[in-house]
Amino acid sequence: MKRLFLKKTLAELTVEAFDEGRHGLKRSLGPVDLILLGIGVVIGAGIFVLTGHAAAAVAGPGITFSFIIAAVACVFAGLCYAEFASMIPVAGSAYTYAYATLGEFVAWIIGWDLILEYSLGATTVAIGWSGYLVSFLKGFGIVLPEALTSPPFLYNVETQSWAFTGALFNLPAVFVVVFVTVILVIGIRESASFNAFIVFLKVAIILAFILVGVFFIKPELWHPFVPENKGVFGVFGWSGVLRGAGVIFFAYIGFDAVSTLAQEAKNPKRDMPIGILGSLLICTILYVAVSLVLTGVVSYTKLNTPAPLAVALDAMNLQVFSPLLKIGAIAGLTSVVLVLLLGQTRIFFSMGRDGLLPPFAAKIHPRFRTPYINTIITGIITAIAAALLPIGIVGELVSIGTLLAFAIVCAGVLVLRYTDPKAPRVFRAPGGAATPILGILTCLYIMSGLPRDTWIRLFIWLALGLVIYFNYGIKKTRMGRKKT
Ligand code: ALA
Repeated sequence: MKRLFLKKTLAELTVEAFDEGRHGLKRSLGPVDLILLGIGVVIGAGIFVLTGHAAAAVAGPGITFSFIIAAVACVFAGLCYAEFASMIPVAGSAYTYAYATLGEFVAWIIGWDLILEYSLGATTVAIGWSGYLVSFLKGFGIVLPEALTSPPFLYNVETQSWAFTGALFNLPAVFVVVFVTVILVIGIRESASFNAFIVFLKVAIILAFILVGVFFIKPELWHPFVPENKGVFGVFGWSGVLRGAGVIFFAYIGFDAVSTLAQEAKNPKRDMPIGILGSLLICTILYVAVSLVLTGVVSYTKLNTPAPLAVALDAMNLQVFSPLLKIGAIAGLTSVVLVLLLGQTRIFFSMGRDGLLPPFAAKIHPRFRTPYINTIITGIITAIAAALLPIGIVGELVSIGTLLAFAIVCAGVLVLRYTDPKAPRVFRAPGGAATPILGILTCLYIMSGLPRDTWIRLFIWLALGLVIYFNYGIKKTRMGRKKT
């Protein structure tokens, strides 16, 4: 039993960080790079694709409240992440933090769970990317064949069954994953500059949408702001606002990816909290503004489309800007896939180094200094998933998996405050124990709004993780061999 709860001490983690600083990943990122990487990963399919669906199907204009509820959970979790990241300057995100606080077993669970957030998140966004590309090209009369732009089967929510679409696979989604994988193998510095350019474009397009859209708002479209519940939990009314928070929680996913880059930050103790909280604040303001404009210029009932912002442009009679908006979305979604896959490869790197995954996961390329083998494998698996899976199913699974990870991080901060109260905390989350406790509660609250099927898929994924741990990791970890 004791075996399952072996922990890394802060001293061990610091030695690892020191070793890797000398021999491993390059330290090249400053605070602005980190904020840009954060925004780069956060603004994506959530706002460009899922917002419209959530407003039309579950929350109406109340989707604005959903964004605020989700932001509250993220602020608590973000403060906890920042405290952890400033204490433990090593790669691995919530996985590493859990290893130091809750022991190997929980670390494995969370590392496994984070695959939902990062790899499956990248899958979801790649599918959204494909939707925007198809729509952009269509605007110029270029129609890509359906057989090469859809998954071979789709889930019909009404009949609750799977149906074959007759399509082969989603080729554009595969393309974007392969493109990003190549950039990641080449190296982090190149990735950060590429990302900074795209973030600039994406934020400019969103700001323009907000500033122009404000003049077209018809306040009567906001009445009722929270449409009446349809008699079923989660379909409009306040339970719809809660379910909406679960769906669009996806839009905030990724600000924590900044914490996975601690080993590549020039001054992780100071810059990690700035990167995490700075990007979260900027994104929240933009999301609330976009959702108000969106539901203020076009009736929420018309927003169930793959490109809701383009529908709003139509309503403003500004279709001429549609191609520009779609280019911004396509570029923006590319940067999200980039940072999610980057975070995933760094988590696999840590897990490989610790022995929870085979050693090749931690192998660094002699010239590019990137964990190239795990990057290539992650790219291939993500590309296959993006080729074959439908966006709705994966999106909700990503949200629930991430909420679970955030709740465990908050629990980890709480535990460490008691077990190691004197450890230096360059950044301490304000509010005492209330912040992590409220973080856990808000994450669980939002999870409670998601459908039962999504919960079942989460449990199946976690059960698979247990089977792998008890057949592989438990026998192989460095910690286990050293301490038992
Ligand atoms: N937050 C990211 C997005 O919305 C994952 O695409």
